Amino acid sequence: MQSATLFTLIAHRGFSSDAPENTYDAFDLAVEHGFNNIETDVQLTSDGTPVLIHDETLDRTTTGSGPVAAASLAYLNSLDAGIWFEGPAETVGRKGPAAYGDSFVPTLEEFLQRYEGNVNLHLELKSGEPELAEKVAALLDEYGWKRPASPSEPGVSISSFHFEQLERSREAMPHLDHGYLLREITVQACERIAGIGGTGIYPLAGDVTTEQVELAQEHGLWVRTWGVRSESDLLNAHVAGAAGTTVDWPLRAQKLLES
Ligand code: G3P
Ligand code: CA
Repeated sequence: MQSATLFTLIAHRGFSSDAPENTYDAFDLAVEHGFNNIETDVQLTSDGTPVLIHDETLDRTTTGSGPVAAASLAYLNSLDAGIWFEGPAETVGRKGPAAYGDSFVPTLEEFLQRYEGNVNLHLELKSGEPELAEKVAALLDEYGWKRPASPSEPGVSISSFHFEQLERSREAMPHLDHGYLLREITVQACERIAGIGGTGIYPLAGDVTTEQVELAQEHGLWVRTWGVRSESDLLNAHVAGAAGTTVDWPLRAQKLLES
């Protein structure tokens, strides 16, 4: 597990700079390098299975095409989700053409079985389907995933850009932490998420300020950021006082913060 730090580095879609995002290759690579905080995106197939994929459509990251919501699980299982990947940006991923040609789109259920007791999962409810939260809740309950005792411990928390999804999720999983993804922290946004019992607010890393972090803290909210595109974005989030961030290249980020 990642060494204790006041700033939590969350492997965004897994270690996605060096392996195809949201596949076991990317998740395993994060864990192998000590990053047990992993972010991923969940949405539903046409037959109602929660699957881990970011885009609304299959086209960019799989050999399939069309909306995820229109694809059956059987169709998804026939697709490759790694062959598109052009190679590691850092030095830890596999190299060479089609190095990840055997990757596939995981289901949430498989993920929960595979990393039980080993990962702190930052699960983003990506799509707006009304039944997504209750399906996720049923799986987390079945496999016993709970609120982590600390960021370095195994567990799960929920985030979303869709406020109505957070409302549904809070009702289905009141025992878990919920964070509101947005671009900028405002008084209204703090009141909105605190008003439904949410515990976090997650602004854009490059734009967050100390004043915004303090505002969130006054509302009792935990701040972690997203959208790190550069080292300066990472440093901005850190200096502003955020408690952590998602990042595609957690190892480089860790070295940068230690230097
Ligand atoms: O950490 C949150 C982040 O994942 C949100 O952006 O588009 O990468 O899902 P996106
Ligand atoms: Ca995400």
